[in-house]
Amino acid sequence: MCGIVGYIGSEQAAPILLDGLEKLEYRGYDSSGIAVINNDIIDVEKAKGRLQGLREKTNNGANVIGTIGIGHTRWATHGEPSDVNAHPHLSQSGRFAVVHNGIIENYIALRERLTKKGFEFISETDTEVIAHLFEYYYKGDIMDAMIKVIDRVEGSYALGVLCSDYPDQFIAVRKASPLIIGLGKGENFIASDVTAILKYTRDVYYLEDNEIVVLKNDSVKVYNIDKEEVEKNVFTVDWDISAAEKGGYEHFMIKEIEEQPKALRATISPRIKDGKIVLDDVSLTREDIKNIRKIFIVACGSAYHVGVVAKYVIERMCRIPVEAQIASEFRYCDPIVMPNDLVIVISQSGETADTLEALKVAKSRGARILSIVNVVGSAIANASDDVIYTWAGPEIAVATTKAYSTQLSVVYLLALYMAEKLGTITHGQYKKYLDELQALPDLVAETIKHKEQIAYLASKFYNCHSIFFIGRNLDYAVSLEGSLKLKEISYIHSEAYAAGELKHGTISLIEDGTLVIALATGNDLFDKTVSNIKEVTSRGAVVMGLTTTERSMNGIADYTIQIPVTSDIFLPSLSVIPLQLFGYYVAAQKGCDIDKPRNLAKSVTVE
Ligand code: AGP
Repeated sequence: MCGIVGYIGSEQAAPILLDGLEKLEYRGYDSSGIAVINNDIIDVEKAKGRLQGLREKTNNGANVIGTIGIGHTRWATHGEPSDVNAHPHLSQSGRFAVVHNGIIENYIALRERLTKKGFEFISETDTEVIAHLFEYYYKGDIMDAMIKVIDRVEGSYALGVLCSDYPDQFIAVRKASPLIIGLGKGENFIASDVTAILKYTRDVYYLEDNEIVVLKNDSVKVYNIDKEEVEKNVFTVDWDISAAEKGGYEHFMIKEIEEQPKALRATISPRIKDGKIVLDDVSLTREDIKNIRKIFIVACGSAYHVGVVAKYVIERMCRIPVEAQIASEFRYCDPIVMPNDLVIVISQSGETADTLEALKVAKSRGARILSIVNVVGSAIANASDDVIYTWAGPEIAVATTKAYSTQLSVVYLLALYMAEKLGTITHGQYKKYLDELQALPDLVAETIKHKEQIAYLASKFYNCHSIFFIGRNLDYAVSLEGSLKLKEISYIHSEAYAAGELKHGTISLIEDGTLVIALATGNDLFDKTVSNIKEVTSRGAVVMGLTTTERSMNGIADYTIQIPVTSDIFLPSLSVIPLQLFGYYVAAQKGCDIDKPRNLAKSVTVE
């Protein structure tokens, strides 16, 4: 996903912009650029490839003079990665420079209209349309031009705009793409997320859709599309800067794997007081919960995999029907959602376009929306009736780990909270589960300690061309996540399969030496899964078993990984750890770009 930064103050803008873009690299990009106003002329520098190329081109920004500017890292959607397609895009006369994150869905029609009016396009991007639209509508007032532009474009956008007629200010707006406003002393910022500006300020505004912000070095004013000023609350970000730095680790991903116990404690502890779960951020009453007809869980990628775990856990605890659906499928299947349904939306970034659009579909059908999100003030959080934040801190690696784990812990809290209100578990069970939930971070820490064993196994199997993950019930749900972790960072093909389903076709792919990672942690399905393991070993598979310390897989699996014992519903938080580590170490063995895997972005704000 693209990254945006903007600065106005008394310092040279270019080095600050480059520094901010560097903090946004994790979002995934293939080109970058900056634009700075110098003596009423907009100076634009762009480079395909890594940010280092732009640094070399501008002598780390020293050659680009000016104290007001915007910058951008581009993750190509329309038009290949190139200098020409990189942002910022200039208007025909050079009066406007624009950076954009999102997609202009009607850019072709607008491009045709502007071409007929004599505008010449030099790039293949949708964004260039915006630069020329500003030129077309500008009659001397940049706010009026902005209002006309956003009235004409359809789609999603976070925009930063320079105008050479306004060397003392720049303007920005967002719709369905993230943009935060950093409030400094004698300087102000825009950024796609707080990590880009934490070094300069912790005080931010979170913009609502179609709020226009005018930034000067000593003032920030927010307006609605009627040009009425809007009062905004200042949020103070309490993330420590080190959380957004590698802190001596080789990769953000291993740092974030190691941070999981701390992230879990931060997410769980504030919500258990005097032996009860306290969800201050949820307005669901006992009556509301009793009246829930059905629960839908909607998300993408790893967040969807949390939803699959949640289906098993909530149905087991609350006896309410739960359907977990991939967001991009849910939104186009004309879902049968009723007003007394609860739709749980899960998203680390809170900006995933497919998930946000699915949320809107559910909302339009009258459902109550409860979201589980890691980024405060994000679009999904703002669009929900209730939000339960995961306190994982900034997650930089594209492959999620600590956000996934803290999302699981919120699912447990919510399931137990509802079960207690419904009376579907006894007081004794409730107390037992709460005790185990509070002990979970320590068990996760204990599991991470076995990372050397996982590194050893990765060294044996990193040359595999295809790896299967199998399991039943909750183990199947975690298999999905283990398979994705491996695929997205090591580029090895992998499939997760319900262990009982393998024999209905896919087992034909098993041949001598095929690696099968079999999860058998669940108490009551261990023997069934062992039968499935025997089906694949008898066809030549090599099996890496994953079970609890209560079980032995000697004579069943070729290698065994053991995790601590706890209640079945919490085992996903433990069984996922070896799989995260396996994906990490396999990718490390292969020399992959672990934190920024090819083709991927941290948050996919395009459909
Ligand atoms: C997971 O490792 C991937 N980065 C990806 O599947 C991710 O979970 C998915 O894109 C959803 O992102 P979100 O949680 O920010 O909505």
